[in-house]
Amino acid sequence: MKGVVLAGGLGTRLYPLTKVTNKHLLPVYNKPMIYYPIETLVGAGITDILLVTGGNSAGDFLRLIGNGKEFGLKHINYTYQEGEGGIAEALGLAEHFADRDLITVVLGDNIIESSIRKAVDDFKRQKEGAKIFLKAVDDPERFGVAVLNGDKVTRIDEKPKKPESSYAVIGIYMYDGTVFDIIKTLKPSGRGELEITDVNNAYIERGSMTYEILDGWWTDAGTFPSLARANQLVASRYGVL
Ligand code: DAU
Repeated sequence: MKGVVLAGGLGTRLYPLTKVTNKHLLPVYNKPMIYYPIETLVGAGITDILLVTGGNSAGDFLRLIGNGKEFGLKHINYTYQEGEGGIAEALGLAEHFADRDLITVVLGDNIIESSIRKAVDDFKRQKEGAKIFLKAVDDPERFGVAVLNGDKVTRIDEKPKKPESSYAVIGIYMYDGTVFDIIKTLKPSGRGELEITDVNNAYIERGSMTYEILDGWWTDAGTFPSLARANQLVASRYGVL
């Protein structure tokens, strides 16, 4: 199993914080945002990691993370996404690195409380298809929303005006090697991006998508309210705030 952290995009929703630096280098309590998704992968036993950067100050990732020694890694791989063509476009840049292995993908602004090690081990046994995590939230319209029928996800709607459930699809995804074939078939969405939700819907149509409900808290950190919440949640780990 290999790991991919997606930290491309321009972070426009956090302007002017992102005017001279990269969103994923902003502080979340006592660490830069990008530390958390890397820790999620390392905590699940994944040590072969590609970091997809982009936007402003991409060189600073190298200065900050280097070879990943602080995370117990010997080496880390980097690549660069031009522009902001979407999460699935950024993931497409990982094709050569993944080399048809199973991958766990973490969005660079997603922070979780608990380990995903068990789910990663389950997916290794699943061997093919995809796995996503769901979390019940108060504001599902901000996310990809899972439509459920019994124990199956039948569809994911990206930022629906009227969500059909309260289950957000969080930004941690597991895929087999065919994900790159799916990405090549995608067309840009209304917001001009290749959508990860379209990738996930392709696996659902094939009948090869499984899901888990995530334990512990989860937040993104790409808007002012969610960045504030991320700071509070991480601070609460230290008994602060
Ligand atoms: O946080 C989970 C949500 O993330 C999912 O529920 C949604 O289905 C999914 O579309 C995504 O929603 P957002 O619109 O909030 O994603 P955002 O554009 O903020 O991008 C999240 C991260 O993905 C960002 O921190 C870095 C990476 N990314 C994003 C874009 C648009 C890239 O690497 N390249 C990109 O071009």
